[in-house]
Amino acid sequence: MAAGSAHCGESVTAERVAARSSHRFCVAPMLDVSDRHFRFFARVLSRRARLYTEMIVAQALLQHSGGRLLAFAESEHPVALQLGGSEPQWLARAARMGEQAGFDEINLNCGCPSPRVQQGAFGAALMRQPAQVAECVRAMRAAVAVPVTVKHRIGIDREASYGFVRDFVGTVAEAGCEVFIVHARNAWLDGLDPKENRTIPPLRYPVVARLAADFPQLTFVLNGGLRRHVDALDWLDRLDGVMIGREAADHPWMLSEVDWRYFGSPAPCTTRDDAIDAMRPYLQAELAKGTAPASVVRHLLGLFNGLPGARRWRRALSDQTFLARHGAAVLEQARSLMKAASHVPEKDRSFAGTGTPATRSP
Ligand SMILES: Cc1cc2nc3c(=O)[nH]c(=O)nc-3n(C[C@H](O)[C@H](O)[C@H](O)COP(=O)(O)O)c2cc1C
Repeated sequence: MAAGSAHCGESVTAERVAARSSHRFCVAPMLDVSDRHFRFFARVLSRRARLYTEMIVAQALLQHSGGRLLAFAESEHPVALQLGGSEPQWLARAARMGEQAGFDEINLNCGCPSPRVQQGAFGAALMRQPAQVAECVRAMRAAVAVPVTVKHRIGIDREASYGFVRDFVGTVAEAGCEVFIVHARNAWLDGLDPKENRTIPPLRYPVVARLAADFPQLTFVLNGGLRRHVDALDWLDRLDGVMIGREAADHPWMLSEVDWRYFGSPAPCTTRDDAIDAMRPYLQAELAKGTAPASVVRHLLGLFNGLPGARRWRRALSDQTFLARHGAAVLEQARSLMKAASHVPEKDRSFAGTGTPATRSP
């Protein structure tokens, strides 16, 4: 499909508006971060954010018949399963397993630059094979009723032409993909490791805005380097949504502002204490199942970042002896330690990232 051709000028249906607003704020897939505990915590902070799993390799899912890899809590909806792979039939079967497990969306990773992933000829390397990606999308769409979406970069290595990413999107959209999540920097597959690939290739947000202008019938979600809500919100007059990864992992309290800022809904938690209280029964239930406490509490380490006592909170929750001693009460215990160290009432504190009172409502 050429840029702007099919459906151009078509009236935007209510369904499409709903589909677009459902991606208005997304929490990024992050290997070793966005596991089910992280997602549960993110959902405590925001009822409306769309959550993504870490990338799960299709073949691994098939080998393990899903199982624990697909476990998630009912409260996590809307939640998307991200798959890695390049074999249409494997991806189709994995997508079906994801749908049967209850995921609301299946996302194909075309943006990961890890050498391990390149060997498997998927991730960002797939951007060089748009026809193959289209085939994968076609096979997945034939297998499931939930939306199949793609997350990708704006180019590979030093390829800077807009035509490269435009043609990628056009070809994949022909296969029926309607939602594109775009990490707005190239993936340099020749020499940078994955971490460097998230910082060194320059961000080029206008490329994503140009895609949105050229393909008005498609949904575009901007990703990469967004740290403050005010900056992210600025893009929403040209784009359908934003996706935030590291900032949400490092300063999770920023998620407590999502519902009122992006959706005009009340925030589910107005104080960090609310969030801790909401996590206690979950932690207790997980411990009863034999989950190591660190697997859950590691996602709360950044809850107080930027505030007095934050270091004491992190230190307590990183201490295995402390975790073992306090069991399900570990969060309250760490909070008491931290409060004893600081004395600043929470109502007087604000989120460092936005300069806006964390407790504000719409
Ligand atoms: C620790 C870590 C793991 C990641 N794992 C994945 C992954 O599994 N799948 C994926 O598409 N992107 C992955 N990413 C990339 C993020 O989804 C996102 O595109 C990137 O971090 C840029 O967004 P940010 O600047 O808001 O963090 C990962 C990023 C981080 C920091």
